[in-house]
Amino acid sequence: MRGFRYVFSDMSSDTAPEQNRGSPVQKASDMNACRLVLFAPLILIACATESEPQYDPLQQYEELDAVTILDAPSAIAGNFAPEHLYRVRRGEYLVELLGCGACHTDGALEGAPQMDRALAGSGIGIAYTNPLGTENPGIVFPPNITPDEETGIGLWSDQQIEQAIRVGLGRHADRRIAVMPWQGYTKLTAEDVTSIVSYLRSIEAVRHQVPDDVAPGEKTKRPYVYFGIYRSR
Ligand code: HEC
Repeated sequence: MRGFRYVFSDMSSDTAPEQNRGSPVQKASDMNACRLVLFAPLILIACATESEPQYDPLQQYEELDAVTILDAPSAIAGNFAPEHLYRVRRGEYLVELLGCGACHTDGALEGAPQMDRALAGSGIGIAYTNPLGTENPGIVFPPNITPDEETGIGLWSDQQIEQAIRVGLGRHADRRIAVMPWQGYTKLTAEDVTSIVSYLRSIEAVRHQVPDDVAPGEKTKRPYVYFGIYRSR
């Protein structure tokens, strides 16, 4: 295919220097012209295929330095019973250690976390289908996990929050969480998960709605990242 395309561009080149006319190079080019006529239908196909816009992911993406570990916001004293202080502190420690804020805090995925909205959800999405293979991947936006009742998890039961973290189930046990590495959290002890839930309930409720998911194939102008490991060929 490439050979045909080369012949075609040779023919259209009227800018060849005068002294080259009639030279052996030019004669070879005339022969190619005959082949051009013979293979004309094929050439058209070749050119039509080649001129289609090619999807080049390397033109569309840039490298980022995400923030992976950031301070968890402090619990608010009035939001939990004093006898639960140890549990809440342990929850804070675990949330910080497990890097929950890296996804659930706006801007963190681009290296600029909005700490006044820590854990209140990300406007930067995460692709869960490979954007290097298809132009419009499916995207989820790490949700608000502060106790706000409208935009966060304020109305979720303890069991629903625990299941999201340890089993990767959505609120109504209806779907699997696609991106969160819940597989890495399944071995948390019951006590540790309870601590995380108590802590999440005791932080400030921040009103912040994250964008709706983007289905695979759907276009979006919203920013998103993709986590992947690639081996050299
Ligand atoms: C790699 C990014 C990432 C990390 C790290 C992460 N999450 Fe998530 N989390 C998400 C995404 C994305 C969703 C929404 C998933 C979906 O709809 O598929 C989610 C959903 C949730 C939900 C359900 C809330 C809802 O509205 O759907 C809870 C609760 C939650 N995460 C808590 C945590 C906790 C606690 C940690 C740390 C132990 C954590 N997450 C770590 C990305 C992450």
